Amino acid sequence: MNSFNLLLLAGDGVGPEVAAELEKTLSTLAELGLFKFELEQDLIGGAAYDVHGTPLAQATVDHAKAADAVFMGAVGGPQWDHVAYDVRPEAAILRLRKDLGLYANLRPAIGYEALADQSSLKRDLVAGLDLLIVRELTGGIYFSEPKEIVVLEDGQRRGVDTQIYTTSEIERIASVAFELARKRSNKVSSIDKRNVMKTGQLWRETATALHTAKYPDVELEHILADNCAMQLVRQPKKFDVLVTDNLFGDVLSDIAGALTGSLGMLPSAALGEEDLQTKRRSAMYEPVHGSAPDIAGKGVANPIAMIGSLAMALRYSMGLEDVANLVDRAIANVLNKGLRTRDITFDLTKAIGTREMGDAICREIRTLAQ
Ligand code: IPM
Ligand code: MG
Repeated sequence: MNSFNLLLLAGDGVGPEVAAELEKTLSTLAELGLFKFELEQDLIGGAAYDVHGTPLAQATVDHAKAADAVFMGAVGGPQWDHVAYDVRPEAAILRLRKDLGLYANLRPAIGYEALADQSSLKRDLVAGLDLLIVRELTGGIYFSEPKEIVVLEDGQRRGVDTQIYTTSEIERIASVAFELARKRSNKVSSIDKRNVMKTGQLWRETATALHTAKYPDVELEHILADNCAMQLVRQPKKFDVLVTDNLFGDVLSDIAGALTGSLGMLPSAALGEEDLQTKRRSAMYEPVHGSAPDIAGKGVANPIAMIGSLAMALRYSMGLEDVANLVDRAIANVLNKGLRTRDITFDLTKAIGTREMGDAICREIRTLAQ
């Protein structure tokens, strides 16, 4: 079996706590002979800033480029609120996404039966939900220039962000969505603001042209981003794959997360272009939740998003679909048995901690692997 080189960037806040459960799960898979790996760790975010004065050292970027997959916990916290904009913890994630060319962000939202009552929506609307947001991750308003605050002659300040998309950027992310839809329910919802934005008009025209040329077998609908936000809370199950730009994807994926009951449940993958010769692609896997400073260090964070991100890595970077399914099934079984971290229960007296949840998932993996 191939051995995979993994880089773990635990980061700040609850990052190290959920990262420990990832390590535990990796070791469990290795002990069962299902997976072979070498794991290295490095600093990111505030933790890196405190040591290097920058949230992401160049050596860490090089390290990440060489890895088969990068796992990231979370970055940021109030202790770094004062640091300069360019070296704020979040800058590290953006730079990694850009430098590794991680243009395709996959954010699945699964409505587990066992958690349907945790959702802010009625059980029927979310039980069995299975949608996938495909978010463009290296372009748009996050990265386009100019991006600045300038002082005007009259002394006012003016903030500028720019949204740029080219056809090739739209085509490559839309292709990812169409390809994934073919393996699911074969439906893509493309989200834009064509009624207001030029990038939106181009987005829609490009998605339509690509659909006609290469993916006529996939059902394609176009939805305006504001309408999509509304549909997501009204009838989320009507969606299969959603494809959208960087900013809309950021916002819509938090909505999708809330539908499932807790952001602590949501894994994600950020993928780069496949190298045609080596068949390798850069990839980073991270929970969608942030560093949650309010509960950091208390051992109560939900590690499921992090462990679910490992399942995504097994699927998208290692080609180990069976092992990925095993991890996903272990998570579902543990939930079905009623085990709950604080964020996914109303009865806090019965909530278990981060470690206990990690242990339970590893136990379940062992049982399933027999
Ligand atoms: C996310 C986060 C990031 C983003 C932040 C932390 C820079 O909200 O991954 O959704 O806006 O992309
Ligand atoms: Mg976000």
